[in-house]
Amino acid sequence: MARHISKDATGMHRFFFEKLKLHPGYIVLVQVGDFYECYGENGHLLSELINIAPPVNERKVTGFPVTSLMKYIKILVEKNYNIAVYDQFKISNSTKFERKLTKVFTPGTIFDEDLLDEGRPSYLMSIVLDEECNDSIGLCWGDVSTGTMYTDICKLSDDEGLFQLLNEIKPKEIICQNEEIKRIVLGVIGKMDVDGNAYIHLHELDPHIKNYNKNAESNAVSYFYSYLEKVQSDAIVSFQEPKRYSKLDKMHLTPQTVKSLNLMESLNSKKNSLFKIIDRTCTAGGKRLLFSRLNSPSTDMKVINDRLKLVDYFVNNPHITDLLRIDLKNINDIERISRDILASRPSKTGIPQKFIRILNSLKVIKELKEKFISLSKVPEKLETLFKQINYDNELLNILEKSLNDKQYKSCVSDGYFVKDGYCRKIDAIRIKLDNNSDEDSKDFLEKYVKELKIDVSQLCVRRKSRKWIVASKKEIRHPHFLMEARLTNGEFQYSLKALDKQKQDIDILFSQMVELEVQIFEDIQEILRKKVPQIDVAATALSELDVALSNAIVAIERNLSKPILTKKNEIDISVGRHLMVESIQLNSQRTFVPNDCLLDSKKRFSLITGPNMGGKSTFLRQVALIVILAQTGCYIPAKQAKIGLRDAVFTRIGANDDLTKNESTFMVEMKETEEILKRATSKSLVLLDEVGRGTSAREGLAIAYAVCQHLAHRNESMTLFATHYHELADELKHDTTVNFLKTEAARDENGSLMFIHKLSPGVADHSHGIDIAELAGLPKSVTSLAREYLNKSVTSHPCDSKTVNELSNETIERIKKIDLNTLNGVKALCLLEELKNSLTNK
Ligand SMILES: Nc1ncnc2c1ncn2[C@@H]1O[C@H](COP(=O)(O)OP(=O)(O)OP(=O)(O)O)[C@@H](O)[C@H]1O
Ligand SMILES: [Mg+2]
Repeated sequence: MARHISKDATGMHRFFFEKLKLHPGYIVLVQVGDFYECYGENGHLLSELINIAPPVNERKVTGFPVTSLMKYIKILVEKNYNIAVYDQFKISNSTKFERKLTKVFTPGTIFDEDLLDEGRPSYLMSIVLDEECNDSIGLCWGDVSTGTMYTDICKLSDDEGLFQLLNEIKPKEIICQNEEIKRIVLGVIGKMDVDGNAYIHLHELDPHIKNYNKNAESNAVSYFYSYLEKVQSDAIVSFQEPKRYSKLDKMHLTPQTVKSLNLMESLNSKKNSLFKIIDRTCTAGGKRLLFSRLNSPSTDMKVINDRLKLVDYFVNNPHITDLLRIDLKNINDIERISRDILASRPSKTGIPQKFIRILNSLKVIKELKEKFISLSKVPEKLETLFKQINYDNELLNILEKSLNDKQYKSCVSDGYFVKDGYCRKIDAIRIKLDNNSDEDSKDFLEKYVKELKIDVSQLCVRRKSRKWIVASKKEIRHPHFLMEARLTNGEFQYSLKALDKQKQDIDILFSQMVELEVQIFEDIQEILRKKVPQIDVAATALSELDVALSNAIVAIERNLSKPILTKKNEIDISVGRHLMVESIQLNSQRTFVPNDCLLDSKKRFSLITGPNMGGKSTFLRQVALIVILAQTGCYIPAKQAKIGLRDAVFTRIGANDDLTKNESTFMVEMKETEEILKRATSKSLVLLDEVGRGTSAREGLAIAYAVCQHLAHRNESMTLFATHYHELADELKHDTTVNFLKTEAARDENGSLMFIHKLSPGVADHSHGIDIAELAGLPKSVTSLAREYLNKSVTSHPCDSKTVNELSNETIERIKKIDLNTLNGVKALCLLEELKNSLTNK
């Protein structure tokens, strides 16, 4: 918050608070000498965030050395703060300095490669109200570091839809047109876990945008650009043509699905994710592409088959896979680096190195193309990719001719970044500089050094052409022949008066050279700007190539096979495995037991029963993972599989209670189940793991039964339902859509339980819960008591079939009359309650 500026504020203090007013909500950093400084409350906040000493009082300052800027910016940006940096410049022909805004960092508008997560996109999102319909919003999100852009529309009242969308995109920063949108978005983001944390704020809508268009999506795009222009006015970035997100043919994965199947790494979980196992990409762009493909697999048969064909080629030609990967490993993140260069001044630290990285990448692309030309009989898709993978000759030539890749300093102001022979003016200056630094002056210098009578080993001559004596301690006390000492980076520098004139000449020459070098960098920057669209095309194709090669490597190493995608309503997997469980088993010298899965439109529902630890949940997840991998365009862990394209995968697995949101375990379970019943279609795959276990056994069973009925006959989704309610099988045994599978446990010669993990047709009759409890280490006294109790309760209660026989005729007639086709979840529950009441009243 900007503070009142007191009358006696010093110049620096006043300057700081004036600037703070211009950047409300920002942390402002002002360069003073070799430090960045920050005052008052802003200074306190900064010191807390980056863990440095706070300002001692209101008027004092806190700060850090200029060299630590990027280290601290990274921390601040990760914590979702905005930062404005004012740098200091010497006013020419004066000893004074002026300070100008040079950099602005906000979480969604970062270009610096070093501040970005290389394997994830980084989105800025804009949200505007639809002028025509007040319940509709237009959204636009783009990654400033790669130029990808999407748009969509959504109902403001559709909390769930917005939640799903934001969860998929995970924008780093969201700008909202008004308070109402901001409030709703804040509410939705609040429901997400920390991975979805975003910086959400208002941005004033430019009046000229307001009536720009009736179309909410294009307004969102204009709004997006207007914000970007405001915060990054220097950075003119090119974006690709925006794509309408909901029109892309993609499989819908709910946040629960992504989480419960461990598709991606999350901040909260250290578990082995599917992404981690299948990611063998060697470029940052490839990693990002694989991430987005796995995040939203495709439902477009042609797209998937094209991807698979490419993988197939590399699986069958491993030597070509190795050959191409060698080069890919040496290609840098050219789309991000080029945008970073374009968004920066040539004087920014590290820019020359970024040019060199582009140059090196172009050279490797050239080699890669040559290798490709020598290949014969390549698939069409690979031909197409290599048509797009181009190095631009003009850019390559100019970079090759102009860049001195032997200069290892990081700032253009250090000079010598332009190759000798590239610019005649620079060459001429360098000759003069060299003449000024001949051996004579070196001897001259050393003569004086001797006169100083200090340990010569502490002295050195710094910088070719610039005569300095450098000492680590202030041991030299004003000898008449020395200029005043200057402290830089903890060292004292002295210059010889006798050489001062020479030094001044050198300084002038040096800055002339740097000026010319900067000019050359600016010229190359302009050439690069024109080439960005071409670089984007090449980078996208390289990423595709990288992902295909990565898939092939994983396919070979993990014995994967090519799935067959069909339009039929079927999932037919033989000898399927779960990649993550398998790798854990292998690490502990155990073998994974593969299983088959067969679902089609007739037998679309599998009820899986079996003991605890029997492998039910593993099987459920394994089927979903195989389907997701297949639709991502990857090979799958199975001997063979036919997968009828799925539009979505829904899961209800495990306990996701959140007491902070006033939701108990059972409440969350039911909410998630309700969402599935509402959204799943006949083309969806649904995994339900022990639904109904969160409440009393009887009511839980009733709910499980009703949910099964709804899914099998209303949604008609392909469903895998794992349960310990073995009684469910009795209820469903006449249902022709249901298939019964069981896992089993057996006892070895010592009487210990062994889990077979092999699924077979049928219904299990035992959960072995107490045995497992014993294995888990529950005290013997507890398990013995449990066994005693179990035996007593079994003998003292009539068996279930007897209970059925004792039902009144009236109740039996009522059950017979139930029309399952009209029964939904809620009706089923009410009916069950009535029946239950009639039994208890009997
Ligand atoms: N097919 C398999 N091959 C080898 N080991 C397996 C297999 N399936 C499961 N396992 C092992 O058994 C463990 C338990 O499996 P899982 O959680 O799937 O059992 P479950 O039947 O769902 O048990 P519960 O009823 O207690 O939830 C897994 O962590 C894994 O180590
Ligand atoms: Mg389980």
